[in-house]
Amino acid sequence: EKGTYPHFMLKEIDEQPLVLRKIIQKYRSEKGELEIDQEIVKAVNESDRIYIIAAGTSYHAGLVGKQFIEKLAAVPVEVHIASEFGYNMPLLSAKPLFIFISQSGETADSRAVLVQIKELGHKALTITNVPGSTLSREADFTLLLHAGPEIAVASTKAYTAQLAVLSILAEVVARSKGKEIGFDLSRELGIAANAMEILCDSKEEFEKMAHEYVSTTRNAFFIGRGVDYYVCLEGSLKLKEISYIQAEGFAGGELKHGTIALIEDGTPIIALATQESVNLSIRGNVKEVVARGANPCIISMKGLEMADDRFVIPEVHELLTPLISVIPMQLFAYYAALHRNCDVDKPRNLAKSVTVE
Ligand code: M6R
Repeated sequence: EKGTYPHFMLKEIDEQPLVLRKIIQKYRSEKGELEIDQEIVKAVNESDRIYIIAAGTSYHAGLVGKQFIEKLAAVPVEVHIASEFGYNMPLLSAKPLFIFISQSGETADSRAVLVQIKELGHKALTITNVPGSTLSREADFTLLLHAGPEIAVASTKAYTAQLAVLSILAEVVARSKGKEIGFDLSRELGIAANAMEILCDSKEEFEKMAHEYVSTTRNAFFIGRGVDYYVCLEGSLKLKEISYIQAEGFAGGELKHGTIALIEDGTPIIALATQESVNLSIRGNVKEVVARGANPCIISMKGLEMADDRFVIPEVHELLTPLISVIPMQLFAYYAALHRNCDVDKPRNLAKSVTVE
């Protein structure tokens, strides 16, 4: 039920800090360490490469998950769009492990790949919000998101839950190999939950921002580098699916290779700057588009902020910024859709789970 909320999407955005805290609790052992079914850890350790298969928002979570698994657990990861994988299968490694990420656990494109790789005799883990869903039943292992039912077609809390579970998987695998990751993940996830709360309490700011940047625009671009780019892909999907504004996420460095031709006077550019290593270069990209008339909206992180930033998110561990930086994107899309009188929870042409290939 929506309770006092006007839309499920807003309720689900607001639930994110709670969901994150619940995940930390669900995946913590009595000793206080993060814990994952030993069989799953064994399957990861026995594999030489992980193939993440997903669609839409879950695919975007997979792109960030690759960073977690490669950086913390040092296992190579490929991320594939489910609908492309089947007929365009890459050369598989000798001991692949497949991870299916799916909120609903019912996405037909992902299921088709699961059937295919099971026939080849490979192992599969499903990360899903729905226990007993098709992808969960048909895989060898399941990790649950514990996000509670997600009703709005636009996925929000499932995305942050997917990131949290993927980070926990990466940490537990790293520890099983005796690898020091150099920080306490549960503590950092707790800090991220507090930061999420601060962002959810800043709704008025995002409402103003949406009004200012996209109330009448035809299109909008999101730019970032590294993980910020992946969050830009998610931010642009959110905006297009519920507000019908043509929105695209771009890697900052790619702009000059073509996309910059799209910039006109007043084109809104939402730029994410949460990574120290690329802070100056993404700001360089913003300058390039501003010189061509773009209307920039820079969202940065505390410690990296500069004079003209539109919003500064609280500081969290650099690996975990996508859990936080996506919230301004979700709220921005929500208010943009509201301003345009769109049906926020049930956008046109879309269904909550896509059960046809
Ligand atoms: O249930 P799934 O996670 O497998 O769904 C995948 C996509 O259909 C889904 O994420 C879709 O892109 C959302 N509407 C995005 O908000």
